[in-house]
Amino acid sequence: MTKTILITGASTGIGEATARAASVAGWRVVLLARSKDKLDALAQEIGDTALALPCDVTDRAALRAAIEEGVSHFGELNAVFANAGRGINKPGVENGDPDEWREMIDLNVMSVLYTAHESIPHLKPTKGHFIVTGSKAGRDYFKGSVYSASKWFVHGFAENLAEEMRDWGGRCTVIAPGMVDTPLFDEPKPTKLQPSDIASAVMFALDQPETSAVREIYLMPND
Ligand SMILES: NC(=O)c1ccc[n+]([C@@H]2O[C@H](COP(=O)([O-])OP(=O)(O)OC[C@H]3O[C@@H](n4cnc5c(N)ncnc54)[C@H](OP(=O)(O)O)[C@@H]3O)[C@@H](O)[C@H]2O)c1
Repeated sequence: MTKTILITGASTGIGEATARAASVAGWRVVLLARSKDKLDALAQEIGDTALALPCDVTDRAALRAAIEEGVSHFGELNAVFANAGRGINKPGVENGDPDEWREMIDLNVMSVLYTAHESIPHLKPTKGHFIVTGSKAGRDYFKGSVYSASKWFVHGFAENLAEEMRDWGGRCTVIAPGMVDTPLFDEPKPTKLQPSDIASAVMFALDQPETSAVREIYLMPND
């Protein structure tokens, strides 16, 4: 039977590439991000097996409404990829901008929590899979990096959630890439990981037999 995956941050980069890869692999895809034009174009390209639901995932009510609409449209939810995230413009702690930290934590931390909280009731009946984008920066130390600290939260949370989901046969995977060539950076990075490389890792985690829970996939560029 055709399965359904909901992807946050699906308008560009890793999320967009994963939407394409999942769709090629036969999944139905529910696409969330703020950019309606980009989501609509991607959904139109994929066809009837895609649903674009523009929303700000830091807005819990809007996120809940989008998840419910996705489930009612396709009938069930088998996987969620909590991938929306951002970096920071003013590096460091002493010279950082606390208002910018708040906005980043709302997205990198709170929206991941909201996405899990709102989607788990729908994943439980399908023994579904929750996948979240961590980072090399969530496994390592970077001078003064509040972004890195937000990804350490993601890694800790993913393991804790994996243990909770295990109670009912669900699985949770954290994907931990090094630098990926996405619009997160102003300049192209052709020798770094490509968004399709991360999409392959997500599909690998999703493709495992029921007896295997892939808890973490750590990928680095090979340049
Ligand atoms: N690129 C790297 O080197 C790298 C390495 C490790 C981990 N990561 C992580 O990978 C994830 C994806 O990033 P990316 O590299 O693919 O960058 P990206 O192309 O900038 O993608 C970020 C996505 O998040 C969406 N987004 C941002 N704020 C949002 C909000 N408030 N509500 C809903 N969607 C929102 C963006 O869409 P809209 O602007 O349309 O909302 C976009 O689809 C992030 O969690 C990032 O931290 C990236």
